[in-house]
Amino acid sequence: MLQNSKLEPTIIVIFGASGDLTSRKLAPALYNLLLDQQLPELWAIVGVARRKMDDDTFRQRIREGIDRVSRRGVVKESVWTEFSGNISYTSEDVNDLASGNALQSRLNEIEEEWGLRANRVYYLAIPPTEMKLAATMLQRLGVCRDCTRDRLVVEKPFGRDLPSARALNQFLGDMFVESQIYRIDHYLGKETVQNILAFRFANSLYEPIWNRSYIEQVQITVAETVGVEERGAYYDKSGALRDMVQNHLLQILCLVAMEPPISLDADDIRNKKVDVLRAIRPIHAEEIDRVAVRGQYKKGTVLGGSVPGYRQEKNVSPASTTETYAAFIFHIDNWRWQGVPFYLRTGKRLQEKVSEISIIFRSPPHQFFPSAAVESWQPNRIVMRIQPEEGIGTRIQVKQPGTRMLLGAAEMKFRYNEAFRSLPPEAYETLLLDVIRGDAMLFMRADQIECAWQVVAPILDAWESIPATDFSDYSAGSWGPESADLLLAGEKHSWVQPTLTER
Ligand code: BG6
Repeated sequence: MLQNSKLEPTIIVIFGASGDLTSRKLAPALYNLLLDQQLPELWAIVGVARRKMDDDTFRQRIREGIDRVSRRGVVKESVWTEFSGNISYTSEDVNDLASGNALQSRLNEIEEEWGLRANRVYYLAIPPTEMKLAATMLQRLGVCRDCTRDRLVVEKPFGRDLPSARALNQFLGDMFVESQIYRIDHYLGKETVQNILAFRFANSLYEPIWNRSYIEQVQITVAETVGVEERGAYYDKSGALRDMVQNHLLQILCLVAMEPPISLDADDIRNKKVDVLRAIRPIHAEEIDRVAVRGQYKKGTVLGGSVPGYRQEKNVSPASTTETYAAFIFHIDNWRWQGVPFYLRTGKRLQEKVSEISIIFRSPPHQFFPSAAVESWQPNRIVMRIQPEEGIGTRIQVKQPGTRMLLGAAEMKFRYNEAFRSLPPEAYETLLLDVIRGDAMLFMRADQIECAWQVVAPILDAWESIPATDFSDYSAGSWGPESADLLLAGEKHSWVQPTLTER
């Protein structure tokens, strides 16, 4: 199969290769890249995990993963032969300080066969506790020393608070240079998240009104229908604030609020995002209840099926006070956004899976239509739908058909699948290809991660010091706790219910 001859030969080493992320996300993404002829001419995947397994067993697991979840359906036999031929597995225990020889030999074998020194991507799809061990092993083996060729991909969670994230940054920073480290936030790889940049900065129509003079409020909703699935043990120590807000929601907020960068260069973009994070008004302990809400799902019905409450989930404490829902009011203290509230909410087991951003505009300065004409007047609104049904909708006021001057709201819609008739790539496809290319634009820099932790730190501290004994729980299948509605009602606003879904 013809591949991308512009890319350097690359070996992708996946630590945590026997885990869920590899079979559900990484392997299908790499397979799809091969299908689309996006991989370099010479490429190999080396799976690494503690479990003993031969190459064929590993390949079979990978195949099952692709068959189960790939957006392109089950594997094509002809492509599989090539794909599986480039996959191998070595068992290593990063806890064992003498480990690594099998991996080193495997890398040498591949490079001898190719007759060159390849680029090496080390993907750490392992728990935070093992990341330092894996990094130390790579350092000890000397297989990640070439700072232009060797890259380290670090999965989230990156730390569990500001001190631990700082410590991990420091630790990795002592071993590798910053440009070698690719900290993943998979939301940044989503096509429609990237489209926020294009929409804002490639259209002269919107940027002039993208500020406090025209925008009244911004809402970001990331709602999920799934519960904690098999991840109860991790999630119960994490909660929605750490799992979703510190990373995904704040990154979306940065893209919505950032100033125009001077180029698409990784650092130009990242500098602008850090400016946003630094401008978020710090939240003080005494105001937490006025600006933040947490909740936990009770049993209920989601998408027509009954589901248990969070405390009944596997590996979750029956007395857990971990939040599965969180909502906030943030303010950004800069010229562009002074006085514009940013409302963020996310939760598991909500009514629908939907991620969207609503930009709500101010009323016209003067309303000369008679009051009867504007009875059902609603402000202009741009809704950017990240998933599903990726697209953008703009609500405008129009004259209703008829002999009288009556206004009504209408929606102008752009849908990805209608406009381009193709499925966008999965986030991991984009991100893996960027690492292979050496483009860090969609990855998090050390200071970005720390600034994001700094934003949520006061909330984490307050919530941890006063565990929620009396949770404002919400039923699975609802839109979240009532207290989240009251949070916005206090500001004379209300949450925008998802609008683009066609029924
Ligand atoms: C992950 C979180 O980062 O993102 C999960 O750990 C969450 O809890 C997932 O379910 C949501 O991602 P997506 O792409 O399904 O919106």
